[in-house]
Amino acid sequence: MWAELEPVGWAPSGGYRRFAWSAEDLTLREWFAAECARRGLDLTVDRVGNQWAWWWDGPGTVDDAVAAGRPGVAIGSHLDSVPDGGAFDGPLGVVSALATVDALRAAGVTPDVPLAVVNFVDEEGARFGIACAGSRVLTGQLSPERALALTDADGTTYAEALRAAGRDPDELGPDEQTLRRVGTFVELHVEQGRALVDLGTPVAVASDIWPHGRWRFDFPGEANHAGTTRLEDRRDAMLGYADLVLGARHVATQRGCVATVGKVAVTPGGVNAIPAHVTGWLDARGPQEDQVRALVEELTGRAGELGAEVTRESWTPTTRFDTDLADRLRGVLRGAVGTETPVSVPVLGTGAGHDAGILATAGVPSAMLFVRNPTGVSHSPAEHAEREDCHAGVEALTACVRDLTRGGPDGEPAPGVVRRADGDV
Ligand code: GLV
Ligand code: MN
Ligand code: MN
Repeated sequence: MWAELEPVGWAPSGGYRRFAWSAEDLTLREWFAAECARRGLDLTVDRVGNQWAWWWDGPGTVDDAVAAGRPGVAIGSHLDSVPDGGAFDGPLGVVSALATVDALRAAGVTPDVPLAVVNFVDEEGARFGIACAGSRVLTGQLSPERALALTDADGTTYAEALRAAGRDPDELGPDEQTLRRVGTFVELHVEQGRALVDLGTPVAVASDIWPHGRWRFDFPGEANHAGTTRLEDRRDAMLGYADLVLGARHVATQRGCVATVGKVAVTPGGVNAIPAHVTGWLDARGPQEDQVRALVEELTGRAGELGAEVTRESWTPTTRFDTDLADRLRGVLRGAVGTETPVSVPVLGTGAGHDAGILATAGVPSAMLFVRNPTGVSHSPAEHAEREDCHAGVEALTACVRDLTRGGPDGEPAPGVVRRADGDV
């Protein structure tokens, strides 16, 4: 599977450009559908475009099973990437989920509840600006109206991108029928940090996701000649932007947060023209929500004094994963993660956003497994995980799924699977 994915969206940097609803993304979606068909999984696409491939050999349909108190277990991640992203962020979770289906079958295991492999669309928000757009719309955390009006760098709207991909934009919206099938979600992901290297363990379970968000800063200026305009006569939009970049670093240091300005657009963008307009995008996160909010307030105030307009594009408060589920998976994994002797499986928090966090916020008991990354580097071509650790990840996910899909007596939910009330999104 890895070899088939390798060339798709490959960029000269050695990283990947796999943006939502692009030609590369459509190739990846076709690849996913083919892998699911090869395994005889029943592929459904929800109102947003997320792909769900179900394995259910029990009586009736998946919906019948859910109605009979056997909500499904979903595993998977996403296949899109950030600009020049690594090969693992997303695809490792999808490939590991498919490999888990293979491992269960090789072991002769048939799940007692429906099992789905999912490919969430548009996790990175690299093209339209909002991360986890697929799971946010699915769960009602992003309105279809707002999503459809988002534009990419070329001015293409989300609605137009959907149409070009053969989808009906009017269909976009929350999908309660799909969500109702999901009793539990487990997302395996490459670690984005280097805690596991120091701990000497290949796999960890997630505890929480830091609060995080994205803000757009628009700095006004006036275009003029770079050689003939006196310094005192200039209105240089770049100066406000420069203040934002340095301020972000300074305030983040003071407040124990991280802040990044990783994207900028300069108008008119000529070497010899004073910038008339600069847009910078701030990504801010941190362990403490009040500190992240205070950081953004401070930067907004500074930028406001320079005439900037600030727009919040997304905000995700602290997400805590279900502790019962995390404890249960840690129990399952003790001794089952590529080591002979039982070791305690670490629990890690993360500063990275994930669809599992969005589902958790929507009330779906969710968990994450992290696979060791030797350098910790992510969102970069240098992102890596050793093959042996990836295999340990599949082993771990398989053990978790085996446990979570083991049914109780007929009509009883599988142990530990928490059913949600109808409409509880
Ligand atoms: C997603 O990868 C994010 O945390 O930006
Ligand atoms: Mn990512
Ligand atoms: Mn990811």
